[in-house]
Amino acid sequence: MFKRHRRLRGSQVMRDMVKDLYLDVKDFVYPLFIEEGTGIRQEIQSMPGQYRLSIDMLKPELDEIWDLGIRSILIFGIPLEKDPMGKEAYNDLGIVQEAVRFIKKSYPKMLVITDVCMCEYTSHGHCGILSGPHVLNDETLYYLSKIAVSHAKAGADMVAPSDMMDGRILAMRKALDNEGFINTPIMSYSVKYASSFYGPFRDAADSSPSFGDRKTYQMDFRSTKEALREAEADLDEGADILIVKPALSYLDVVKRLYRRYDVPIAVYNVSAEYSMVKAAAQNGWIDEKGIVMEKMYAFKRAGASIIITYHSKDIARWLKNKEIY
Ligand code: PBG
Repeated sequence: MFKRHRRLRGSQVMRDMVKDLYLDVKDFVYPLFIEEGTGIRQEIQSMPGQYRLSIDMLKPELDEIWDLGIRSILIFGIPLEKDPMGKEAYNDLGIVQEAVRFIKKSYPKMLVITDVCMCEYTSHGHCGILSGPHVLNDETLYYLSKIAVSHAKAGADMVAPSDMMDGRILAMRKALDNEGFINTPIMSYSVKYASSFYGPFRDAADSSPSFGDRKTYQMDFRSTKEALREAEADLDEGADILIVKPALSYLDVVKRLYRRYDVPIAVYNVSAEYSMVKAAAQNGWIDEKGIVMEKMYAFKRAGASIIITYHSKDIARWLKNKEIY
């Protein structure tokens, strides 16, 4: 006798009943690029539909996000001035700090997460302080902690360190606690690979390294077990949520972390993953909605409960209009 799997696929109602994965607009985090200056609303060429915005242009964007039901955003700053020490990153009146204040004033209930890194602020584009060509680990921790505290002071609800220095979670946790931010969670980019999938982001945030690459701090995708060591260390140091980044090519890693650790897991569906879909869709080669939703369910199936994606607004719209399941 063979098994008739098709019995449970016979109708839409039946399929809806037996499914075991759910997507909710509240699962999504929408990344925003905020640029210092005024009157800026510039579409990012390699990321159609995504914009660099100055704070004075932010309100309509926030209204749209809020009306769509999205309640979490991840902020990236693009400063006017860059220098070798990335000073603007921890300036209490810097672009991210001012943006957070503005957003929390307009939408106090919006969960504002800030990306904590130096690469958008350093003139050399690396994620830390340099000595010659080397990114100094322990010296950088001091600056990263300053950035995290300055974001928290501005009102950030959660910080997301993406620099990949060793020991940053412990350093940041201590610094936040010392300043009284004991309840500010850390969402750590624990498992972050040195990836070509960040290309369009680096155009968007103007953060490409001016020499070399990020392979001495971001992870090598040829290694499997390293992901577990990174995650374990971050949890020991006090991380509250783990991020796997990029998302699509690393679902095996998501699944491993999901099975091993009882903390929320986020995936970052990064820039090139977005751009590839948009480019193919613009050419009429793929069904954009179908492709995007299939990916989102794949993230869920692997074990992610939080999805950081540039598709958030499109998905929220589809969910709202009941255009998808
Ligand atoms: C900052 C940072 C990067 C991304 C998120 N935070 C770029 C990088 O590490 O080079 C990439 C996000 C994306 O590609 O969408 N370090």
